[in-house]
Amino acid sequence: MTAFLRNTWYAAAWSTDLRESQLIGRTIVDLPILLYRDAAGSARAIGNRCPHRFAPLDRGRLVDGVIECGYHGVRFDRSGTCVLIPGEDGRAATNMRVPAYSVVERDQIVWIWTGEGPADASRIPDVSDRLANPKFAFVTGSTHVKASYELLADNLIDPSHGQFLHGTVLKREGFFEAPHEVRQEGSTISSERVIRDVEAPAAYAPYLSDRNARVDWFTRAQWDPPGIFRLDNGVTPSGKSRDEGIRRSGLHLLTPETATTTHYFYAAVRNYLLDDPKADETSLQWQHTVFEEQDKPMLEAVQSMMGTEDFASLHPVLVAIDQPAMRIRSTMRRLIAEEQRREPTAVT
Ligand code: FES
Ligand SMILES: [Fe+2]
Repeated sequence: MTAFLRNTWYAAAWSTDLRESQLIGRTIVDLPILLYRDAAGSARAIGNRCPHRFAPLDRGRLVDGVIECGYHGVRFDRSGTCVLIPGEDGRAATNMRVPAYSVVERDQIVWIWTGEGPADASRIPDVSDRLANPKFAFVTGSTHVKASYELLADNLIDPSHGQFLHGTVLKREGFFEAPHEVRQEGSTISSERVIRDVEAPAAYAPYLSDRNARVDWFTRAQWDPPGIFRLDNGVTPSGKSRDEGIRRSGLHLLTPETATTTHYFYAAVRNYLLDDPKADETSLQWQHTVFEEQDKPMLEAVQSMMGTEDFASLHPVLVAIDQPAMRIRSTMRRLIAEEQRREPTAVT
């Protein structure tokens, strides 16, 4: 069975997707969670399974900032405490409660702490380099994938599949001849290739000041636990810094739903056409073409071939391109084992 890291912050939603009066039921690391905004507009998260007859609380409603179950009307406040049982004037059963989860909104993301212990705000991933950086414009989106977060991580850290799965749009001469640099610093793992001194690919040339300039074409992916990816693709006039070229610098956040399904949040970040709604549309369209039409069907087909079998038990044959993905898997195994040693009952 897949284990999750629990004492960590996961992206639960984009802030803009959690609107006033809206109740979002969302399973995160196998926990049923209700996301909503309280009367002051602050994001909140409590357990989504009513302890009375297990109705999903997202089928209820918000009344003066507290949640009313849609089945028999029991109410819960933001701490998960029952504040009203219809027909039981003033009595509140102490076992009528749901868990409450710490939530922090930062960089337009609703982060949730799924750990047992106290939430540690100092460990909220800092993604301001992408989402609060005047050099960049970005558009956001999310999707649900019927594949494990590990399969998604394999995919995002490995640009080589672009030569095949995305061959129609991303194929590059010289890709496999370019040195593959895999680095690890602590728990940060990166994978990079640079094809030097080539004609600018059609996807980038129109945005260069000199579209005929020779360029270095780079593709870089960086992972931080538990599922924070910074992808950088672009071209730079040969020998110049990356900021002098055209960069598509995505932020991709993986939040496990169950062992075999994942919530995937993405921001398509760019350093050109900063105030251009058409460029926003093109970025979203690009993400749609590449991920929704190409990666996602493949990942879901892979998960379906694996069923609920554990990855290692199927004895996958490993090749050179797997190096960064295997480092991610072994880092996650280590972090989960460390957490289980500290809290033997916290992870299932
Ligand atoms: S199931 Fe929620 S009040 Fe009965
Ligand atoms: Fe892909």
